[in-house]
Amino acid sequence: MNYLGKLRLGVNIDHVATIRNARGSAWPDPLRAALLAEAAGADGITAHLREDRRHIRDADIVALKAGLGIPLNFECAATDEMQAIVLKARPHAVCLVPEKRTERTTEGGLDVAGDENRLAHFIAPLAAAGARVSMFIGHDPRQIAASARIGAAVVELHTGHYSDLHAEGRLEEAEAELHALQRGAALAHSLGLEVHAGHGLTYDNVAPIAAIPQVMELNIGHFLIGEAIYLGLDDAIAEMRGRMDLARGIL
Ligand code: PXP
Repeated sequence: MNYLGKLRLGVNIDHVATIRNARGSAWPDPLRAALLAEAAGADGITAHLREDRRHIRDADIVALKAGLGIPLNFECAATDEMQAIVLKARPHAVCLVPEKRTERTTEGGLDVAGDENRLAHFIAPLAAAGARVSMFIGHDPRQIAASARIGAAVVELHTGHYSDLHAEGRLEEAEAELHALQRGAALAHSLGLEVHAGHGLTYDNVAPIAAIPQVMELNIGHFLIGEAIYLGLDDAIAEMRGRMDLARGIL
């Protein structure tokens, strides 16, 4: 079997905070979940500090940075407020995402091509502070090329549309979307970008994404936290890891 190299798994713990915030209490604690994920073999922890703080809060970021032994991937919008928080918290990685107040989740990719000059200036101090800066984008070649031009180290390809088509049983369209993601990953890699992917990934749809050779990391949250209700977080992560490794040719 073709060995593609181990794929990193970043576990997004936002929705542990969603459950906590539903009752305004102190539990479940996202840091405790992150430490369990770390013990279960996660390679990194992803957390999205939204402008409206609907899940992760500022204090969670401080606690995660102080408590984790694995890298923290801090997701945020490209705003002055978030830039100041990143420069203070100094996470290992920063993933810039578009944010709309009314959306339930991050619906589309960032328009890097349409905001190239501002984003180039925005990421320069983050990179200078040692963060690996990632752009969460669709597979549009214009967005990939613009991400390379502004000096991003990484692009994370948005798999949400692929995941939705898969879930709706529109398998031919999901296949076409997969091919576009494959082409996008190859283009990004050829431009010197590290390639990550994520959004909406589940046990059922992860394998073809995990098998894209240029993809080095998957970031997965909502499904895993939901699955943890049934299996526990460690078994839920182990199952996902097993499927990723199998798709990668690691037995
Ligand atoms: N990657 C990015 C950039 C995201 O914004 C999200 C959602 O916060 C994810 C990955 C994880 O998506 P999901 O929770 O659907 O697995």
